[in-house]
Amino acid sequence: MRALRVRPASAVVLLTVVAACRLERRAPASTDTTTVVDVATLPDPTPHKRVAFRVPNESEVTDPVVLASVRRGRAILRQTRDSLPRHVGNGLTCTSCHQVDGTVKHGMPWVGVYARFPQYRARAGATQLIEDRVNDCFKRSLNGRPLVPESRDMRDIVAYMAFLSTGYPVGAEVDGQGLPPVPPVEANVGRGRAVFAARCARCHGAKGEGVGLATPLWGPRSYNIGAGMARLRTAAAFIRARMPQDSAGALTDQEAYDVARFINSQSRPDFAGKERDWPRGDPPPDVAYPTLAKKPKAN
Ligand code: HEC
Ligand code: HEC
Repeated sequence: MRALRVRPASAVVLLTVVAACRLERRAPASTDTTTVVDVATLPDPTPHKRVAFRVPNESEVTDPVVLASVRRGRAILRQTRDSLPRHVGNGLTCTSCHQVDGTVKHGMPWVGVYARFPQYRARAGATQLIEDRVNDCFKRSLNGRPLVPESRDMRDIVAYMAFLSTGYPVGAEVDGQGLPPVPPVEANVGRGRAVFAARCARCHGAKGEGVGLATPLWGPRSYNIGAGMARLRTAAAFIRARMPQDSAGALTDQEAYDVARFINSQSRPDFAGKERDWPRGDPPPDVAYPTLAKKPKAN
């Protein structure tokens, strides 16, 4: 029980406040209440940082205006190009990669993401707000243009992510966030081409151009060179976890690496200013371009 954790000195404060309230026969004044609440909700000195994956339910949003904002944010993330044509420069939507509205465990979910920001990000060499992170995916993954952080569209997107983070404590690491890493293996473009033809082309098209719901994997309508997906390890991890769409998990680690290397060896849009990424000189080994602060090792 929470009360058992109240230290003796605090318990005295609590008792005093309660006694004062009773004597004066009034509802506790706000200052008194604050004292009590402060004592009772002292954070656990050893917070449990890793928390279980849970997709919140819309019924947990009590304010109708916020609920409308959450729903509009989700609609933008699903239909990004139709909603914000000036901000999308390719054939992808946000949920092409963050699938099922960002609710897939181990599939780069947005569940709990609001509680993980602000955050230091090495690629930027700075503390980022969640708005910065959203705009990074607009500029790179969607090869487009950033939103004005104060805009209604950004507010609604952030409202949706905050909704998906209902109940997650600040700084919590969510079981199933990101992608399960796949141990690096030597990847081969020729083998990857064969995996692509056998396992991917039937949906994504023989030239990776995207057909129907299946999105482009390279060429002018794909993610640009500065995107996370343009990194070999990230692409391999995504493909290993999520593709082929109708039999996710069927590829071996080797096949995932080979096909990721093949896809990322094809042409795609450039990203202006990419050489200024990782300004502190600590690029991961699979970055596809040299950075001014340090050249990545070949992988
Ligand atoms: C081409 C695939 C792709 C698309 C499309 C995409 N993203 Fe991402 N996104 C990624 C990758 C890769 C990461 C990094 C995941 C990791 O490192 O675990 C990421 C990370 C994120 C994160 C941080 C997640 C976290 O757990 O810290 C947010 C927020 C995000 N994306 C929002 C968006 C939004 C908003 C859009 C649409 C504007 C979008 N993404 C489109 C690939 C994509
Ligand atoms: C059954 C059809 C199907 C097959 C087979 C398939 N995909 Fe996909 N893939 C999709 C769809 C559909 C999406 C968009 C995700 C969504 O909307 O949920 C997607 C998304 C992707 C994405 C992220 C978005 C993008 O275009 O960058 C990558 C990368 C990807 N697939 C790679 C592959 C690879 C590699 C293979 C083969 C190993 C493969 N896919 C096989 C249907 C398929």
